Amino acid sequence: MSLPDKVRIVEVGPRDGLQNEKGPVIDTAIKIELIHRLANAGLTYIESASFVSPKWVPQMGDAADVIRGINRQPGITYAALTPNMKGLEAALEAGVKEVAVFGAASESFTQKNINCSIAESLERFQPVLETALAAGVKVRGYVSTTLGCPYEGEIAPAKVAEVSQLLFDMGCYEISLGDTIGTGTPLKAKRMLEAVSKSIPMGFLAAHFHDTYGQALANLYAALEEGLAVIDTSVAGLGGCPYAKGASGNVATEDVVYMLNGLEIETGIDLPKLVEAGQYIIEHLGRHNGSKVALACGS
Ligand code: HMG
Ligand code: MG
Repeated sequence: MSLPDKVRIVEVGPRDGLQNEKGPVIDTAIKIELIHRLANAGLTYIESASFVSPKWVPQMGDAADVIRGINRQPGITYAALTPNMKGLEAALEAGVKEVAVFGAASESFTQKNINCSIAESLERFQPVLETALAAGVKVRGYVSTTLGCPYEGEIAPAKVAEVSQLLFDMGCYEISLGDTIGTGTPLKAKRMLEAVSKSIPMGFLAAHFHDTYGQALANLYAALEEGLAVIDTSVAGLGGCPYAKGASGNVATEDVVYMLNGLEIETGIDLPKLVEAGQYIIEHLGRHNGSKVALACGS
């Protein structure tokens, strides 16, 4: 199959990238400035916050202030995670226009991450979907552990397909398939996508691959060959899930954009500005830049 002409990048850095940061809670103003810089670099979808319990994820405790503080640009989606009705109500009150629910293909991971079974998680998502859609707010659906689980190991592609289908049927407009702990390899990624796309057309699927084992770019190339055209990335390769042991950064936005530029696939993103945005947050966090492209560009 030929590769797509265009790819939509979903930037998850301000959420997935920062939720896992240890140490003091990052200033709200720094998060907002990062979001502004990402928008300025051409990102049109920025997952900006997460309305989860601050006891579970302290770094996301200022979600409402982050959302309210953004100087919103037209044509840019500033989305947030909402695990339940409490999260959705707070998100709507703060003015969020698009939300995401997050489930998983593994029972143990679902329990550790959101404190319920897969079936219970879907029951919780039902009113979130109904209320959000009635308010004109689009809902994205995540399925985690699609290429491996930190507690259960291998996950059957058929299970990924089943949970994805349930979220899709509930009204999620797109299903983002997470390799939460980055254990996937290209063949595994292809097999998983083939299983899910039997019932959900590829145009409704996204890849959300973490780079723990250094496989994310190869896995994304395999996904592009399958016809997938939406990719979740995190600036400077920040990220991880606090409830998935061993989950390190998401694939770096800079590295994905560089690869897509080389493949002559359009993203609309200005790479030098993106590198600067990554450097801004890296300097603030005082950590190593997880993007090889950013390092090569002299950051
Ligand atoms: P729970 O303890 O079962 O919830 O947690 P509960 O309903 O029993 O409530 C317990 C307390 O939390 C109560 O407060 C609630 O008010 C409060 P208390 O009475 O004790 O003071 N509460 C909330 N507070 C703020 N916002 C809310 C909310 N809900 C309840 N929305 C819950 C269930 C889902 C809340 C909890 O497990 C949680 O917050 N989990 C979030 C975990 C998380 O954020 N993980 C990372 C995101 S997922 C991810 O990174 C993977 C992804 O990137 C894809 C991939 O890589 O695969 C998306
Ligand atoms: Mg993630």
